[in-house]
Amino acid sequence: MNTARLSLDPRRRVAPVPRRLFGSFVEHLGRCVYTGIYEPGHPTADADGFRRDVLALVRELGVTAIRYPGGNFVSSYRWEDGVGPVDSRPVRLDLAWHSLETNAFGLDEFMRWLGQADLEPILAVNLGTRGTAEAVDLLEYANHRGGSHLANQRRANGTADPYRIRLWCLGNEMDGPWQVGQRSATEYGRLAAQTAKAMRRFDPELELVACGSSHLGMPTFGSWERDVLTEAYDDVDLISLHAYYQPVDDDLPSFLASGEEMDRYIDAVTAIADSVGAIRRSTKKIMIAFDEWNVWYQSATPSTPPSGDDWPVAPRLLEDHYSVADAVVVGGLLISLLRHSDRVTAACQAQLVNVIAPIMTEPGGSAWRQTIFHPFARTARHARGAVLDVLRDGSTTTTDRYGEVAAVDAVSTWDDDSGEISVFLVNRVTDTPAEVTVDVSGAHLTGIIECVTVGGTDLAAKNTADGPDHGAPRPNDTARQADAAVRLTLPPASWTMLRMRATQATP
Ligand code: AHR
Repeated sequence: MNTARLSLDPRRRVAPVPRRLFGSFVEHLGRCVYTGIYEPGHPTADADGFRRDVLALVRELGVTAIRYPGGNFVSSYRWEDGVGPVDSRPVRLDLAWHSLETNAFGLDEFMRWLGQADLEPILAVNLGTRGTAEAVDLLEYANHRGGSHLANQRRANGTADPYRIRLWCLGNEMDGPWQVGQRSATEYGRLAAQTAKAMRRFDPELELVACGSSHLGMPTFGSWERDVLTEAYDDVDLISLHAYYQPVDDDLPSFLASGEEMDRYIDAVTAIADSVGAIRRSTKKIMIAFDEWNVWYQSATPSTPPSGDDWPVAPRLLEDHYSVADAVVVGGLLISLLRHSDRVTAACQAQLVNVIAPIMTEPGGSAWRQTIFHPFARTARHARGAVLDVLRDGSTTTTDRYGEVAAVDAVSTWDDDSGEISVFLVNRVTDTPAEVTVDVSGAHLTGIIECVTVGGTDLAAKNTADGPDHGAPRPNDTARQADAAVRLTLPPASWTMLRMRATQATP
């Protein structure tokens, strides 16, 4: 049996839980939009063609913000194609995913859909094939109240009030050779700075995200962040990180410890951003938008785009089917994001529906939860208030990829309003349970509300449209309170959420 001791104190806080940490991503890719969130004629579709069954699952998932419309797609997208009378919108080639884009769904439909789900938009502009002028045009269309050409166009298209979109991504993965319009770091940094300056002339309060590296393994990782921020430090607020995880050579122990790599990635980009800031003698801190993260089996067949003369509309692309082990990893990645909430103030699981997604649909058929739905939904619902600085001590395990890591990873939140403490834990060891002691000081523990676990058994199980609902949390009845501590057992390879009630002691 491995052991772990966690010490937490509601007075020792990292940061408030950023609500944008539970963001997601809707790209014009495969069936995320078409037959995903939008399917006119579906039995559950509303008057706008939005699938109500999907909306219900989106609400249950608890996402808070949605990045749109890409992704690689945005780098050759003309936003104007997606507004105005649907019948006169052009059908275009989507060069990113070798598909046909009908443009039946565009910005106004997206904003109407978001309103139904009560979510915040995160809008990406095309800095691949386009530049500052088109980004500012989009901003005018979206956010100006009226009286100018593009704002009047939005009004004529049926939306009188401006959308007041605050968070904007200045392009997507501009370092990637697969990107339409790849740029060098300095070239992109200058364009991002210039575009940010222009956008701020309209609204200085906008929050702007510069593209970081496409992933930690990019050959220019590090120098890219440094060079982009050297150009754009004063003009942007956040830098983006993207990371997708999958088991390499069936190495489950390393896969379960993917949060370790996420920790290191966030720490590295934070250090680089702070070093650029220090050189500039700036008191400003650049925050992190981890605006694409998930498990993604990138080398598997569903990720191969069409080719040649094949330009399908909404093909089945990147439709990964997730196992219980994948759900444990997703739970672990959320622990890493929460732990860094003093710097990671926005994050988007990629993506929301059908495309490497927690929610799947069948055209004309049902919508259902993948295994990874569950740790996300529980964390989004119960990570409230402030993230606590958890002191961890205990057994370690050795992984091929990351060396020696803590056997149990954990993070905790405290909600002043409800007096609830939530602890999210992952046992990364595949063959050994872990006995965990959670010590609470600075508050009087008054009871355990709930303790649930995902994983431990059936790690390879996956869900289908016909069920069952693998990965649904099941009660963990090992949790026992003894004075100011709770003891519980984590099965091997599992994710657990422990919720307790407490009253805070006077400081
Ligand atoms: O989420 C799928 C793709 O992954 C996005 O389009 C791109 O930004 C990333 O490479």
